[in-house]
Amino acid sequence: MTLKAVIDSQSELPLLSVQDLKIRIQMDNGEMRAVDGVDFDIKKGKTLGLVGESGCGKSLTSRAIISINPKECETSGKIVYHSTSEKELHELNLLSLDTKGKQIRSIRGRKIAMIFQEPMTAFSPMYTIGNQIMESILIHRTKDKKEAKKIALEMLSKVGISDEVKRFDQYPHEFSGGMRQRAMISMALSCNPELLIADEPTTALDVTIQAQVMELMKGLQKEFGMAILLVTHDLGIIAEMCDEVAVMYLGKIVEQSTVGEIFKNPKHPYTKGLLNSMPKLAGNRNKRLESIEGTVPMPIDMPPMCGFYDRCKDRIEGVCNKQAVPKTRISDNHMVRCFLYTKEGEERTYV
Ligand SMILES: Nc1ncnc2c1ncn2[C@@H]1O[C@H](COP(=O)(O)OP(=O)(O)O)[C@@H](O)[C@H]1O
Ligand code: SF4
Ligand SMILES: [Mg+2]
Repeated sequence: MTLKAVIDSQSELPLLSVQDLKIRIQMDNGEMRAVDGVDFDIKKGKTLGLVGESGCGKSLTSRAIISINPKECETSGKIVYHSTSEKELHELNLLSLDTKGKQIRSIRGRKIAMIFQEPMTAFSPMYTIGNQIMESILIHRTKDKKEAKKIALEMLSKVGISDEVKRFDQYPHEFSGGMRQRAMISMALSCNPELLIADEPTTALDVTIQAQVMELMKGLQKEFGMAILLVTHDLGIIAEMCDEVAVMYLGKIVEQSTVGEIFKNPKHPYTKGLLNSMPKLAGNRNKRLESIEGTVPMPIDMPPMCGFYDRCKDRIEGVCNKQAVPKTRISDNHMVRCFLYTKEGEERTYV
């Protein structure tokens, strides 16, 4: 079979498949199950949103993909990556790679790039923005300095930084927050990655700049065809940007479907709570926005029960606090993890 035929036959495969991902951290007062059996797929060229309040495990999950969590994080499960961009087809379990080895380093930045909430973490204050973008291109894309500079300048201009020749020689502190975010995106995309992981990329920016950065990412996705894992606590951003959404609570995916389905037909009380606290979607302006009462607890030595129990208005005492919650498939592309949609203790399919 030719390579093209192999690739075509595999075209249904997701670009990335996270399977039963667990991240444990030993704390003084017990074991924290910060990520507890997470499964999701990211399709080629599509955007998956990972949404949930702060502390749910979104960043640990997304950082696990490129093995950049701190060493106290004990990680298990599989992260299967199907890359088809080179001359050969790879299927790799990223978690099986040496976290400092050559293989993951050739993927990190080149095939899978990441942008963060705070661009200062991506740039060193000691070097110019242009040099840092060029450095990344020289490591991953070309050895030719002239060409690397040309690509860096092109990318700066693509992300809407005008006067890129002058900007190239400036230091990070000479850029505004929004500009730095654009520069970080240009650095991430300068190596033409297959997957961009964006962890709360616009949280630190004001609303207008936020919208511009999102538009920019959408445009670049169209142009480069990359997939995006968009991590956010904001369902408004999910609605604008994503094809599919995974709702995360206390280390678990509690609901997952297409964006249309999640907004039209949410099932999990936590998803409904997030939707009710969204200003735009609450519909009637006079309707009071409801926030979800309580806060995300620390998942330390949690007994098998629903993690949302203490905050859930629909909880069933003796059921939801007595056993682990199984997944229920509502339809082919809609999963929920809640006892309201299953018979006690057994998995039921509502198709
Ligand atoms: N290095 C660490 N040591 C101890 N606890 C951590 C560490 N990193 C994250 N956590 C905890 O793990 C949980 C999930 O964190 P995180 O993935 O950053 O959440 P999110 O990105 O959804 O806000 C939180 O309770 C956080 O305090
Ligand atoms: S399993 Fe029970 S406590 Fe958990 S979200 Fe569903 S109804 Fe609420
Ligand atoms: Mg986070």
